[in-house]
Amino acid sequence: MRILVMGCGYVGLVTGAVFSDMGNEVTCADVDKNRVASLNKKIMPIYEPGLEEMVRRNMEEGRLSFVLDAGPHVEWAEIIFICVGTPPKDDGETDLSQVEGAARLIGERLTGYKIVVNKSTVPVGTGDFVRRVINETKTTGADFDVVSNPEFLREGSAIADALNPERVVIGASSKHVAMKLLEMYYTLGAPVIITDVASAELIKYASNAFLAMKISFINEIADICEKSGANVADVARGVGVDRRIGREFLNAGLGFGGSCFPKDVVSLLHTSNGLGVEFDMLKATLAVNGGRAAHFVTRITNRFPDMAGKTFGVLGLAFKPDTDDMREAKSVEIIKLLDEKGAKVKAYDPVAMANAKKILPGVAMCDNAYEAAKGADGLLIVTEWREFRQLNMERIKSLLKTPVIFDGRNIYDPDRIRAIGFEYYCVGKA
Ligand code: UDX
Repeated sequence: MRILVMGCGYVGLVTGAVFSDMGNEVTCADVDKNRVASLNKKIMPIYEPGLEEMVRRNMEEGRLSFVLDAGPHVEWAEIIFICVGTPPKDDGETDLSQVEGAARLIGERLTGYKIVVNKSTVPVGTGDFVRRVINETKTTGADFDVVSNPEFLREGSAIADALNPERVVIGASSKHVAMKLLEMYYTLGAPVIITDVASAELIKYASNAFLAMKISFINEIADICEKSGANVADVARGVGVDRRIGREFLNAGLGFGGSCFPKDVVSLLHTSNGLGVEFDMLKATLAVNGGRAAHFVTRITNRFPDMAGKTFGVLGLAFKPDTDDMREAKSVEIIKLLDEKGAKVKAYDPVAMANAKKILPGVAMCDNAYEAAKGADGLLIVTEWREFRQLNMERIKSLLKTPVIFDGRNIYDPDRIRAIGFEYYCVGKA
């Protein structure tokens, strides 16, 4: 199949890489000339395990290429995936200007039948919008179909998620069109949900909102645990073994960040308001999440009432492990609150420090976890990178001014860590 992917962000780049790896001919286009130039030199714009190797291999085998101008490739392609950014506006509404730009370009270049697939996360109704824009701009009588095929990949495990999806959702105006897209996916062996365009669009938002709600729910259970002597990890395990609930996304901690959950929950709320539906659970999900960083910092200020002049070592800056993405990272909120109280921060993250430096100029970046702990009044675990789980804790203790750990991700066994001589504060345990 000849595929054009418009947009080389997370979704576009991974989609292009995976489809080329499955034997298709793929051209990925992006309007950012630096990004395209880097990709042509096989330099990845994002850190994602396994991506570089897959891109490199498929470029070398001539199945994957990167271009600045998608226009000339519209005619060539059989299927066009729109994977451009859909950032939020100030009021929470999703900014569809990049989607509109892609649709216009397709319309202007449409000379024969195409399947146009919305893969970006877009509000319900966007499929109709794309169809309208293409119809308004096309200059020939060529036909096309607009399909919704939302992407569910997670950062940090994007390639694995794209190759082993929990499900493939295809929203199309007819079964016939859906089957054409299904040809792209059937080898993955994943469950397939074929539905109409609007339902497919909503499946993506409802999924992300539900997962975000699970996280806020367990974080409020964690608050009860802290006050009642219960242990949130055990509660989550006991609750999650019920298959109707499921174990995943019940890790209490600092709340959700990243490029999807915060923006998608706000966007769904915006859509529901526009339709006259009060989505109170979503409002609560956001409110709970918005309070998690302050809740964590309160634990620190309770222990160190005079924060002025104190220094804290922060382990982990990325919004989650295995990514260098700092968007909506809890580290930023926490460090800002510490700064307001007069405390200083030295930090270490295995891959996100280059990105973090741009938004956290006052933070001293360290070469490793031990350097971040050296001379600090306390150590904060903010992102649960694997390499923090088995540090030499005796050494960490000897480096810290006070052997105190505030663990926002519950990565240590409290008994073990206290036996070493640490004062240990975690989430959802008394
Ligand atoms: C999410 C969805 O999982 C994915 O399907 C969608 O395509 C994009 O959005 P992503 O943002 O990459 O993926 O990360 P995810 O692993 O879902 O984590 C999101 C946030 O929730 C992170 O900040 C993470 O730390 C937090 N989280 C996750 C918790 O606090 N507790 C959990 O139990 C799980």
